[in-house]
Amino acid sequence: MRIIEAQPAMVAETGKRTVDTHSRVLGTGMAVPEKVITNEYLASVVDTSDEWIVTRTGMKERHHVRTDQAASDLAVPASLEALKRAGLTAADLDMIIVATVTPDMLFPSTSCIVQDRIGARQIPAFDVSAGCTGAIYALALADQFIRTGSCRHILVVGVEVLSKITNWSDRATCVLFGDAAGAVVVGPCRDGAHGMLACHLASDGSNRDTLYMPAGGSRMPASAETVRQNLHTLHMRGNEIFKPAVNTMIESTQTLIQRARLTVDDVDLFIFHQANLRIIEAVGKRLGVPEAKVFVNIHKYGNTSSASTMVAMHEALVQGKIRPGSRVIQVAFGAGLTWGGILWSW
Ligand code: ACO
Repeated sequence: MRIIEAQPAMVAETGKRTVDTHSRVLGTGMAVPEKVITNEYLASVVDTSDEWIVTRTGMKERHHVRTDQAASDLAVPASLEALKRAGLTAADLDMIIVATVTPDMLFPSTSCIVQDRIGARQIPAFDVSAGCTGAIYALALADQFIRTGSCRHILVVGVEVLSKITNWSDRATCVLFGDAAGAVVVGPCRDGAHGMLACHLASDGSNRDTLYMPAGGSRMPASAETVRQNLHTLHMRGNEIFKPAVNTMIESTQTLIQRARLTVDDVDLFIFHQANLRIIEAVGKRLGVPEAKVFVNIHKYGNTSSASTMVAMHEALVQGKIRPGSRVIQVAFGAGLTWGGILWSW
């Protein structure tokens, strides 16, 4: 396991305080498809109930794309909103990073499709695959490019259309996932009190078969047999991930707080990956965080993987739960297994 540590924004140098350039959020955006899938609808197509889904997951609704829509159809409007809120245009961007496990196609990358569709210049654009932690990995990468000074404005998108890889014959997974995109434009900040104060990334590939899509890669290319066996869909042993999910999100949160030399009480809002309300509550409780400081929107969107914490961050801003001066922790875990987080100061 390797852990990457972002240096604190402020460094001591020859007795005086100097400030490293690092990233801060300039604007956010989100997009969800129009079609709402309720628990009642799911109970009409698989052997489940509103009561089971609410009690076990906290989910009430999720949004699914139309058959003719793909990841970039959500990523583009979310990106345009983030640019608008940042007061920028696509021409101001120096890089695009898209985190997704459900790209439009395996190649070219969805980020290249976004680059073209939003009218950005011929800038670097690439996708990141880190399961539900993808957006955290992408934001951490963006921060590195901003720290070196090689980029000024970077668009980071977390987007998923998990409805396209859902196994409708598996009631244990088909009720959980939704489609969404969350976008963030980051830019440079030389003020040590704001922006990305700390970052934590980690992985453990030994648990990779608890959550995966077996076919469609070079290990098991598409064949009539892989289609017949539903191997191009998400496979998950959810009850084996539950405990690691709680433990890793606690580890990331504690690491971030420690790296920024803060305490849990110094943080104003906790945005945990929206995979299961019971996981979110267990993490908050074990960390001693008051319920009011834990952001929850899982009832509206279900688990949207890479989009989850990005959509939550956007909604928290719009709802006034993040204000200038707020300290916000954004933490996720997911397929890989991967986990990690970012501590922001607004
Ligand atoms: N409706 C009704 N009953 C169901 C359903 C359903 N939709 N799904 C499963 N059940 C049944 C099972 O068959 C089982 O029945 P049995 O006791 O008769 O065998 C019973 O409910 C309990 O099943 P469990 O899997 O043990 O249920 P659990 O309480 O663990 O909840 C869940 C399942 C919601 C998946 C939970 O384990 C979970 O959230 N795990 C973590 C998932 C996660 O966070 N994934 C990682 C992120 S996702 C990503 O990266 C894309």
